Amino acid sequence: MAELAYTVLARKYRPRTFADLVGQPHIVTALSNAITTNRVAQAFLLTGSRGTGKTTTARLLASALNCPNRKGAEPCGECASCVDITNGEDLDVTEMDAASNSRVDDIRDRLASVETRPARGRYRVFIIDEVHMLSTSAFNALLKTVEEPPPHVKFILATTNPEKIPETILSRCQRYDFRRVTMNEIVTRLEEICAAEQATPGDGLLRAVAELVEGGMRDALSRLDQLFAFCGLAPKLEDAERVFGLVSRPKLLTLLEALAAGDAKAGILFAEEVFDSGKDVAEVLASLVSLTRTLLMVAASGGDSVGLDVPADELPRLKTVADRFGIHGLVYVAELLTDCRNRVRRAAFPRVVVETTLVKLALVGRLESLENLLSRLDSAADAPAARVESPAAADAPGKRDLSDSEQAAVDALKRKFGAR
Ligand SMILES: Nc1ncnc2c1ncn2[C@@H]1O[C@H](COP(=O)(O)OP(=O)(O)OP(=O)(O)O)[C@@H](O)[C@H]1O
Ligand SMILES: [Mg+2]
Ligand SMILES: [Zn+2]
Repeated sequence: MAELAYTVLARKYRPRTFADLVGQPHIVTALSNAITTNRVAQAFLLTGSRGTGKTTTARLLASALNCPNRKGAEPCGECASCVDITNGEDLDVTEMDAASNSRVDDIRDRLASVETRPARGRYRVFIIDEVHMLSTSAFNALLKTVEEPPPHVKFILATTNPEKIPETILSRCQRYDFRRVTMNEIVTRLEEICAAEQATPGDGLLRAVAELVEGGMRDALSRLDQLFAFCGLAPKLEDAERVFGLVSRPKLLTLLEALAAGDAKAGILFAEEVFDSGKDVAEVLASLVSLTRTLLMVAASGGDSVGLDVPADELPRLKTVADRFGIHGLVYVAELLTDCRNRVRRAAFPRVVVETTLVKLALVGRLESLENLLSRLDSAADAPAARVESPAAADAPGKRDLSDSEQAAVDALKRKFGAR
């Protein structure tokens, strides 16, 4: 019955200290200061996308408030209070899921005991998850207590949809916005967890997982669980491709390299492979869009790689492709791919939609060379007049003033293709 005792990775590796919380340094610093200086607000609102650490932080804060062995702002993670709170089983910490308890009576039930003193720790902490789901009357019932709770009570509200929270509640809470965890941070965390699990993921595998999850750490851990379950503790990149129906990033980059070089056939062959191997076409297109976004950032950062969320060994290739397409070209590529992804699910002939899109991408690379052409014409026009006067220079091709009609043609082309 060993399987029954298996704890999913996301639960097993729920951070027990603020130091373990990945990718939210602004929140850790602010909360740590509040705790060590004993200026903890009465009510908090934690917002941000799924699986980025809201519930975890709520429990850490509750632990820090009640742990008898706290060091600085860090709860010890080991005393009975810390262990029970981390597992969501502590008497002094009431967790409520507003998604399934949204009525005013649910809130009244929970709040009936606010005056009761804590059983073990110094504080009673009420954590209300998905708080945006509360009904209007439930919000009103909550409002009064949040405004003036007894001194031994703290509220921590969490939500993925802060825009649905009434202003009256917002203005009474200290708000913390959780950001999506970056790919590099996710990869590092997954590496630590693999080491602890004595797992040996293949090259590029963890990166591929990180790319799938859009900054959600819980999703990343669930994907890893899935891989371990299907493939054992040494999953390879190809396993991830098979299990998740995706095409790995190195292959996508190779495709974009070929398309940037104008190789339309590579696009057709790629479409064939995707369709013949039964991949999830929409997922593959989403990965291509995500890679294009990275290329856009590379192009926009103009050679400065600081702050780019890409593996260092990939950067030179990314730069080459980004240069080939150019920033205008990449904007167009992103539009074509997004449009393709939107259409492909409804299309009668999805394969044709994908093929034509990829062929168009191969043409974008050629269009860009037109931009280079323009800049060559530009330098011809900018050539110093003295050289034009000298007979030798005047004979050299391209080194003369443009006639009025030529200049007008160049300007029209520039307008059309957006070149500077
Ligand atoms: N910032 C993070 N650092 C480390 N681990 C994290 C982080 N965020 C999430 N996790 C992992 O994902 C699990 C779920 O996180 P948590 O419950 O805190 O997410 P959440 O933001 O409350 O998500 P939801 O919006 O779905 O409620 C944790 O147990 C932990 O393993
Ligand atoms: Mg949560
Ligand atoms: Zn403790």
